[in-house]
Amino acid sequence: MTESSARPSAAIRRAHVTGWGRYAPTQVLTNADLERMVDTSDEWIRTRTGIRERRVAAADETTASMAAVAGLRAIAVAGLQPDDIDLILLGTLTPDYWMPSTAALVKEAIGNTRAAAMDVMAACSGFVYAFASAQAHIASGMARHVLVIGAETLTRFLDYTDRNTCILFGDGAGAVVLSASDEPGGGLGIELTTEPAGAYMIWLPAGGAKAPPSAGTIARGEHYVRMEGRETYRFATRTLASTALTAIERSGLQPGDIDLFIPHQANIRIIEAVAKGLDLPMERMFVNVDRYGNTSAASIPIALAEAVDSGRVKVGDRIVIVAFGAGFTSGAVAIEWTADPARAHGVDERIGAADVTVRPPVDWDSVDTIPPALAALLSTPVDGREIDLTDVAPGDPAPAAVSTPSPAGATPSPEVHEEVHEEVHA
Ligand code: ACO
Repeated sequence: MTESSARPSAAIRRAHVTGWGRYAPTQVLTNADLERMVDTSDEWIRTRTGIRERRVAAADETTASMAAVAGLRAIAVAGLQPDDIDLILLGTLTPDYWMPSTAALVKEAIGNTRAAAMDVMAACSGFVYAFASAQAHIASGMARHVLVIGAETLTRFLDYTDRNTCILFGDGAGAVVLSASDEPGGGLGIELTTEPAGAYMIWLPAGGAKAPPSAGTIARGEHYVRMEGRETYRFATRTLASTALTAIERSGLQPGDIDLFIPHQANIRIIEAVAKGLDLPMERMFVNVDRYGNTSAASIPIALAEAVDSGRVKVGDRIVIVAFGAGFTSGAVAIEWTADPARAHGVDERIGAADVTVRPPVDWDSVDTIPPALAALLSTPVDGREIDLTDVAPGDPAPAAVSTPSPAGATPSPEVHEEVHEEVHA
């Protein structure tokens, strides 16, 4: 952050959402696709989760590249230039690398020369934690314009033999710009909680200091997301409504004053439980989990941008963003919306993936970006639907006979692996 932006402020300033944007990769993974992978059914996934399909990042896309597109769109909607941004906060649990931060890569990719940039790790609550931190930076006078992003490439951290997890998650990115103002409105009450008792209910065992990556951790499949679904579900239904309620009460409001809730899109049943817990109809809940699945930290900013662009939010509306995630974390912010939704017209058409380049490292190129199992799935047409895989990077031969523990009911499909091997390496 430059000195000029880090000026102390006499009065507490408000943080208004002035820009918003989202980016979803074009490749779609449907429940029918997953039926060919594990012992599941479209009917089970729809009734237990509400998910119909999710997006999968192309081989040349990463968390940073998707975040940069969403971020540039949000900056354009705010009517700003990239260099107007003082601080970039990026919520993710799937960074491009352990270091540098993905936020640092995004800073360069969007052409910003002056912002401080860092990642925020609070799993699916990452965007809400980042939003709350941005609001605090603005209120304290440390920043004037903050780019807050949630971005994930979860499909590269899933075990496509584990039906408990691989059906849930998808890829994408969303962003907002928060700008300082002395006008009323903007971010209101905040509530953030962390319950470490649930730390191992959803986790990724290997790759960190406790279990550095090795042939053994890979053979045991410890580089994939693991989850106790029922416990996570219980935590979410117990916590989300109370977290939202605290943020609402801190704003001097009642649940009935809130025009629209943007809950973390993990499971339609969890969203229904939030509505019930707050004694509100489902019409007050924004839902798009059916089309994106759970995109973790990206889910709320994608949903928020979609809600505004589809006319569900107007100036003066009060909205609440509320999330839960691994940790166990949860967070909520009540917001009074002050930006004209029409500002976003045409921005998605003007700014796309081709406008962003995340600089690759020198003398090093990663191959096999899409896990072989997923590439296999996407390469086989369903219902006559051909999926263009021309952007899947050719790579080294698929790992030989790596056996990952397969949960009860999972059905690895060796024939599909064979097919893809030929396809990708032809
Ligand atoms: N297809 C078919 N059957 C399945 C599948 C599947 N994909 N997955 C599990 N089952 C089976 C189970 O094996 C079980 O069978 P059994 O009764 O013979 O043992 C049965 O379905 C019921 O399983 P439950 O786990 O009780 O199913 P539940 O109704 O709880 O739904 C779900 C599971 C969808 C995972 C739910 O618990 C959930 O949504 N939990 C929250 C998960 C979540 O939100 N995680 C994200 C956290 S945020 C973050 O930080 C990333």
